[in-house]
Amino acid sequence: MIYVCEPDITDKEINYAAQCIKEGFISGTGGRFVKEFEDKFSKWCNCRYGIATTSGTTALQLIISSLSIGKNDEVIVQSFTNIATCYAVVHNGATPVAIDSEPETWNINPQKIEAKITKKTKAIIVVHIYGHPVDMNPILKIAKKYNLYVIEDAAEAHGATYYGKKIGSLGDAACFSFYANKIITTGEGGMIVTNNKKTYTRAQLLKNLAFSKKKRFLHYHLGNNFRMSNIQAAIGLAQLERIDKFIKRKREIAYKYNQIFKNIPGITLPPEKPWAKNVYWMYGILINGKSGMRRDKIMEKLKNQGIETRQFFIPMHMQPVFKKMGFFKNLRLPVSENLARQGLYLPTGVNLKDKEIEFIGRTLINLMKK
Ligand SMILES: Cc1ncc(COP(=O)(O)O)c(C=O)c1O
Repeated sequence: MIYVCEPDITDKEINYAAQCIKEGFISGTGGRFVKEFEDKFSKWCNCRYGIATTSGTTALQLIISSLSIGKNDEVIVQSFTNIATCYAVVHNGATPVAIDSEPETWNINPQKIEAKITKKTKAIIVVHIYGHPVDMNPILKIAKKYNLYVIEDAAEAHGATYYGKKIGSLGDAACFSFYANKIITTGEGGMIVTNNKKTYTRAQLLKNLAFSKKKRFLHYHLGNNFRMSNIQAAIGLAQLERIDKFIKRKREIAYKYNQIFKNIPGITLPPEKPWAKNVYWMYGILINGKSGMRRDKIMEKLKNQGIETRQFFIPMHMQPVFKKMGFFKNLRLPVSENLARQGLYLPTGVNLKDKEIEFIGRTLINLMKK
């Protein structure tokens, strides 16, 4: 089976993790690896501060609590995303307000935001879907006008750029994921990056059970244990030394797929706007029902030929868990729904061989002709 993605782990990761174990500080406090990973990763994102966490989900949850967003607040989110984006809002007691995607980038449609802003709105979470940056300028303008926070969910987009600027450095704070299929991995793990010292200090406090500096075991705030371990951070440091190579390969893979599929009717290629550097975390395409087989049938046939694929996200406004909670009543978001119906992503792991890309391409094109 050619899997959609597999981590690239070498002796470097093994040696760094072994070194951490030898030094003895294997948890999330003490030791040197967590701090070093926070410093180096945030610097790589052109941000002043990093806060390593247990996952992308907890990083996002921690951003929201660090900004004191909670009960009676509303947060604007893109409906077409991983459910983690929305969980982070709901777990903080705030109300998610879902927005449709742009057909061209698959990301939040900036033109749809203003109509959904109320007195309760506190923040906009943007998601750089599948590695393509969100069109940030109109969103930053709206946020300034209404005094809202902008939070970047960059779980899938390490190294993507917007007009040459690294994503993660564009809003008030950003979260990254280091799950095994992400651009770099720590097994499980996440990171907040921010340029705001207050947000940084509060996030470091809340991630570590809100231990008071004044007196041990006296707590003034509602904390959590979202600490990344030093072993994970050691693996992350090794991965970070190789990140630019990973991104280069992702872009090469996308270029090769694009060449293969560019004139094939019924396949819409992934976006890359002139102002964007897409890092193609996953190479996503749309299968248009007009010609050939429908998306689900194609996925099944590809699987039978040893090619793993994954369908696109099911939008937040269609999730039973949120409907049960009374969110997104009778909401229809046609672009997001269409993406969910037509989208799939193909194997995009950095160790994918050119021959495999050609095989996947040929197999898919043959299926489209049937
Ligand atoms: C857009 C997005 N946000 C958040 C997350 C959550 O990251 P994690 O799996 O590390 O909790 C993911 C995970 O895949 C994601 O794709």
